[in-house]
Amino acid sequence: MGKDGVGIGLVGLGTIGTGVVKVLQQNAEVISERLGFPLRLVRIADLDLDTDRGVDLSGVRFDSDSEGLLDDPEVQIVVELIGGYDVARRLTLAAIERGKHVVTANKALLALHGAEIFDAAAERGVDVAFEASVGGGIPILRSLREGLSANQITSLHGIMNGTTNYVLTQMESSGEPFEVVLKRAQDLGYAEADPSFDVDGIDAAHKLTLLVAMAFGARLTFKDIPTEGIRGLTPLDFEAAERFGCKIKLLGIAKAHEDGRIEARVHPTLIPATSLLAHVDGAMNAIAVHGNAVGPTLFYGAGAGEMPTASAVVADLMEIARELRRGSAGRVAPLSYAPQHLRPRPMVSLGDLYGRAYLRFTALDRPGVLSHIAGALGEQGIGIESVIQQARGSEAESVPVVILTHPVREAAVRAALAEVDRLPDVTAPTLFLRIEDET
Ligand code: HSE
Repeated sequence: MGKDGVGIGLVGLGTIGTGVVKVLQQNAEVISERLGFPLRLVRIADLDLDTDRGVDLSGVRFDSDSEGLLDDPEVQIVVELIGGYDVARRLTLAAIERGKHVVTANKALLALHGAEIFDAAAERGVDVAFEASVGGGIPILRSLREGLSANQITSLHGIMNGTTNYVLTQMESSGEPFEVVLKRAQDLGYAEADPSFDVDGIDAAHKLTLLVAMAFGARLTFKDIPTEGIRGLTPLDFEAAERFGCKIKLLGIAKAHEDGRIEARVHPTLIPATSLLAHVDGAMNAIAVHGNAVGPTLFYGAGAGEMPTASAVVADLMEIARELRRGSAGRVAPLSYAPQHLRPRPMVSLGDLYGRAYLRFTALDRPGVLSHIAGALGEQGIGIESVIQQARGSEAESVPVVILTHPVREAAVRAALAEVDRLPDVTAPTLFLRIEDET
């Protein structure tokens, strides 16, 4: 224990780091009353020592010496908020090596190097906590590790990325194309200058990797998770989805199959407009978890942002500080399962998925085109539930044709689309979206 409470060292004073300083300062009294002792921010390391973050750092040592911070005996818990893979990995392993507990918000790091980091922490007898890495301020990881730990988790579905949810909500309400809405999201600071991690679904896949481990004890890396982003969506898809009684959301989906296989995927999905997730708009996140004893649960809140994310980081600091006070570590396994019970699990392949499909074809507006498309679907045994065809253009123009199918195996859809996309009158690859009727 530091001189006065538990000593914290913070590496990375960006948006979230600044939020952590604010929460520690603004909520010092309630934190101390709940713990019975204070948390003491001892030291901060960042390469940028000039920018005014609008926080009072008096009494805190602030320099660019992260090595010195790791070696500082006053620092008992290191908060890693620099992001990225390599430097963060080295820093985290170095902190563990020195016997420091670590709190991080870095889902990319854990989704790729989690096994190495958790193994090192277990060996050294220190904690690695990462509540802020999934769902920002929503305490979803703690809920899986503790509140729901008596359950066999059967499924989880969620909106795990605020940037894409903002873009989808705006596309739906304004009817504007993806590029226009993305630009506005960037101008407003919701989307990064390089938006790929968010819009291509990678950030959501990182988060789903951690959730799948916690829900099912499955050791995966995010590369095992089939991932599709939202770049291919057009305003027409939102109109068509509405006519089918659906909304389009980027979902992370994971299910446990009775034969032991795990289903995990990230993609834009049509969900019934009446479902709870369909009402989660803007930059908010929500994750629905189904447990065999508890039934359905839903966790909703801000999935990003300075103060919500800092709320989760500081809660982790408090949990570890309590353990330090009791002289223990590792009260709950970081991924909820004891390490020897975390194991690779066979995955359900996309071809084996079964459900209704949304297909948007782009075809020349000529007589017979629809019958060719319907013929290719029929050959694979795919029944059509509904068709929307745009008003006629000239025969030389491509028009969208949207078809909603009856439930079907995805392998059949893929085989039919391979045929359709070769037809001379089909002028662009078909957009295929999955429909989840049970969200
Ligand atoms: N970029 C993420 C999002 C926030 O848009 O949800 C950090 O996980």
